[in-house]
Amino acid sequence: MNWQALRGAVAACTQCGLEKTRTQTVFGVGNEDADWMFIGEAPGADEDRKGEPFVGRAGQLLTSMIQALGFKREQVYIANILRCRPPGNREPSPQEAALCSPFLQRQIALVKPRIIIAVGRIAAQNLLQTDTPIGKMRGQVYRYGPDNIAVVVTYHPAYLLRSPGEKRKSWTDLKFAREVARGDHDSGGND
Ligand code: URA
Repeated sequence: MNWQALRGAVAACTQCGLEKTRTQTVFGVGNEDADWMFIGEAPGADEDRKGEPFVGRAGQLLTSMIQALGFKREQVYIANILRCRPPGNREPSPQEAALCSPFLQRQIALVKPRIIIAVGRIAAQNLLQTDTPIGKMRGQVYRYGPDNIAVVVTYHPAYLLRSPGEKRKSWTDLKFAREVARGDHDSGGND
């Protein structure tokens, strides 16, 4: 599926039931040739309204984190585990995540980034198919899919808004990711 077909398939999707409560699907945004891809959890109320990932308060912090790395938001690609908002911002169910994952897989295959940042526990655990706590996943290089794309895990900006003391750790994760993207950790991690 090319981008256009994929966009159409996502917009028409009624597989998991979230279509009943969504305003619209939230596909993904940014540079389709990006080296860096950020993957979050699911759209919230602001994203459901706007049709774009990470545009609320947590999104503003994610944008600042991207800028701290030296990029403009438009230079990276941003997507989520889910393309529809779970009502009341509850966590995605395993079934919703599984039904939405072919869309994400295809987005990743089309962007073919050098590195994926799994933003928060839900993104990390679903992407890497593990139940390892996020604290234990930080600081390691995981590999994703047939292209063996490097994955680095960090905290979700919504968590950082609640626990600003953890921002320093998140910056450590992003600096680590920058080294990984440069190829400094090719033999590291669990691959
Ligand atoms: N939180 C996420 O994980 N994704 C969004 O798009 C917005 C908030």
